[in-house]
Amino acid sequence: MKPLGVGFVLHPETEYLGLCREIIEDEAEFLEVTPETLWQVGDVHPVPSPWYRLIDDIRERSGKPFVGHGLLMSPGTADAAADERRVAGWLQQIARDQERFHFEWYTEHLGWMDANGIVADFPLLLPPTEEAAQTVARRLSRLKPIIADVGFENQVSYFAFGDVRSEPPFWNRICTVGNLWLLLDLHNCYTQSVNYNFPLDEYLAGIDLSRVIEIHLSGGSESEPGWLPSGRVLRLDSHDGPVPEPVWQALSDIRPRCPNLRGVTVERLDGTITEADVPALRDEVRRARRIFWEG
Ligand SMILES: [Fe+2]
Repeated sequence: MKPLGVGFVLHPETEYLGLCREIIEDEAEFLEVTPETLWQVGDVHPVPSPWYRLIDDIRERSGKPFVGHGLLMSPGTADAAADERRVAGWLQQIARDQERFHFEWYTEHLGWMDANGIVADFPLLLPPTEEAAQTVARRLSRLKPIIADVGFENQVSYFAFGDVRSEPPFWNRICTVGNLWLLLDLHNCYTQSVNYNFPLDEYLAGIDLSRVIEIHLSGGSESEPGWLPSGRVLRLDSHDGPVPEPVWQALSDIRPRCPNLRGVTVERLDGTITEADVPALRDEVRRARRIFWEG
């Protein structure tokens, strides 16, 4: 499959799209969207919001390929009759989105958001068990009739089931069971290495890099000391700062060893940039392109 190069995230937010216009139009080689951010609640199932048309205008005008990065499928939720109606509606809308946006590949956030009536606002950690690997593989495979190449993104967790370094073999197992791809978020790996105090290289060494279809690059910040009674400061997966040097180093190190890598995406959260930040963000996209294409 053809590599696309370096992409940029589209958020449906006017100020962000205005500030990042040149990056989107002149620098990015593909664009990534989270489909659910373009939906609104319908009578029964989700329906497109007004942003749908605007984001599609960007696609048509730019002619750039799109990739999908979903948020709400909850791949770690075990199949249950009570959940089937929601999943069916969700899959129907993804199928409509695929007809419109022609996603080159589609990834979800690893984790669970929905279990026996408990609904979380963001994907929570899964135990790295065979049962969980089978559940995620089965669930994500339901996307394959819609989009051929499907994968999941490694997550950050502020608590752990056992040793965090057991996560890469868990991801490898999901990829093998479901014949799925990994979206490797290097800042998430870096955040785990900082918060759990182990070398980033050691964590990355456990990953089957032949399964990596996409890499995410982003930055983050630190928690306030007052958040925890101990005063401990944690690194956050907050997408609100520059890409740290250890993440750049990790990209350079593993890029030559990812034979199926099709894209590197620079992520930045809307609402976290001003006009003064734009040149540095543009330079991050350019730096990623040099590493992607030249090694
Ligand atoms: Fe990411």
